[in-house]
Amino acid sequence: MSHRPATPNPTDDGEPGALLDLRDVVVEYGAGAHAVRAVDGVSLQVPRGATMAIIGESGCGKSSLAKAVCGLVPTASGHMTFAGQAIGTSKDPAELAGRLGIQIVLQDPAGGLDPRWPIWRSVAESRRRLREPREESRRRAEAALAEVAIGPHLVERRPAELSGGQRQRVTIARAIAAEPRLIVLDEAVSALDVSVRNEILMLLQKLKDRYGLTYVFITHDVSVVTQCATDATVLYLGRAVETGTVAEVLQGRSHPYTEALLSAVPTLTGDLRARLRMAGELPSLADPPSGCRFHTRCPFVRPRCSGDEPELVVRAGGHRAACHFVGELHPPREVAPDEVPTPT
Ligand SMILES: Nc1ncnc2c1ncn2[C@@H]1O[C@H](COP(=O)(O)OP(=O)(O)OP(=O)(O)O)[C@@H](O)[C@H]1O
Ligand code: SF4
Ligand SMILES: [Mg+2]
Repeated sequence: MSHRPATPNPTDDGEPGALLDLRDVVVEYGAGAHAVRAVDGVSLQVPRGATMAIIGESGCGKSSLAKAVCGLVPTASGHMTFAGQAIGTSKDPAELAGRLGIQIVLQDPAGGLDPRWPIWRSVAESRRRLREPREESRRRAEAALAEVAIGPHLVERRPAELSGGQRQRVTIARAIAAEPRLIVLDEAVSALDVSVRNEILMLLQKLKDRYGLTYVFITHDVSVVTQCATDATVLYLGRAVETGTVAEVLQGRSHPYTEALLSAVPTLTGDLRARLRMAGELPSLADPPSGCRFHTRCPFVRPRCSGDEPELVVRAGGHRAACHFVGELHPPREVAPDEVPTPT
């Protein structure tokens, strides 16, 4: 598990508080009766130097939250600050996010690179806002590519002439070349096979240590969280249901949904925790359940859960969970031998 660096980012402003602070953020698609609230009032704080994992099933709003932070989709309401400065409300939120030092790396690296350009040019493009001479941008781009082990012999290649792992290194170089303070990694290693994924995770840790970066690491694969994150937030149907340090969230056994997500992956010691089964399918965001949104699938559901929505309540320090019966739930039942999931 990673640790937040003791020393702050040398380029940081030394301000106290979270580097990224989200309050009641709402992202909505469509309008009127067809509106879908992909992010429905999410609040979370990302400390400087942290790697904040955002975990949850497909469609729970992870990418929508990521895009809102980067100014790529508008927020319908709520408040976002980065290093104390309001973001998301300017005329050009993406430009502001880039200028303040927020970059994004996506799952599909080919999608973000121009297929016609040599890769050095795509990386150099990320320095455009700095308005420096083209030769200087190219020199910086090649230095960033060297940082991610893409040597001079590869810089003239087009994206299609690289492997998936190399393309992901190029998109990371592009983010680094922009001199960021925070990088949002949206499923950045999900498409890679295990050995390449581990190489990229190690590379990300090296870059984080070298540049004092902060990461928001979005994944539906809980097994990578223990490898790279310091903090974690669990989303369910557009809402945060648990947040805290990785130790608090992964070992705290506070929220039944977190427990259900975790019960299918190996623990830090390689053991499998007892399996907690969720009932049914993920409900539609267009028509979320009343009360606690997890009540239609929760193994611990009680009458109060369908009518009364739980708030995120503090358990200890920064650890919070949204469940009426947090701390009173029964431990998961023993796992039967034929129910043991195969580790990924
Ligand atoms: N541009 C869009 N227009 C309309 N609906 C959208 C748009 N983008 C996302 N959605 C919807 O918003 C919800 C959340 O999508 P989002 O991509 O944020 O989920 P996710 O957690 O990132 O999922 P995944 O793990 O599959 O990437 C989904 O119901 C999705 O269909
Ligand atoms: S509030 Fe009720 S339904 Fe929701 S997680 Fe807690 S026990 Fe389950
Ligand atoms: Mg996504």
